[in-house]
Amino acid sequence: MPALTVNGTRHEVDAEPDTPLLWVLREQLGLTGTKYGCGIAACGACTVQIDGQPMRSCQIQLQDIREGEEITTIEGLSPDRSHPIQQAWIELDVPQCGYCQSGQIMAAAALLRDVPEPTDEDIRASMSNLCRCGTYNRIRAGIKRASELS
Ligand code: FES
Ligand code: FES
Repeated sequence: MPALTVNGTRHEVDAEPDTPLLWVLREQLGLTGTKYGCGIAACGACTVQIDGQPMRSCQIQLQDIREGEEITTIEGLSPDRSHPIQQAWIELDVPQCGYCQSGQIMAAAALLRDVPEPTDEDIRASMSNLCRCGTYNRIRAGIKRASELS
């Protein structure tokens, strides 16, 4: 049975090799913070980190995950919402409906790790997640606030 390391815990999963990681996370492991939006790599609602890199889990099949790769979902970003991105999101009330926000946060956390003081241009270049509620200005402000908090 294939095994995955998710949020620091190893899980054996019973799924077909071509099952998208998104559905393994949601349906096999019950990690429903990662959302389904488009299923075609366009929206980013399904973003998780694989070895720290933001990836669209609707486009990754179970068989694509290599032994030893560490998958992090929104549930594993911090134990208590203490990640600077989460703190800034709470402080600035970034989400509106919230549906896209797990993906936004996972992408933003990866950006902040690589670029501790991102400019508007850095944020524009790396944040390709869509938000139907149009929270882009607050997302940008949230990333900058998280940079101050880091
Ligand atoms: S659901 Fe994966 S990118 Fe939209
Ligand atoms: S907060 Fe509603 S889709 Fe982004």
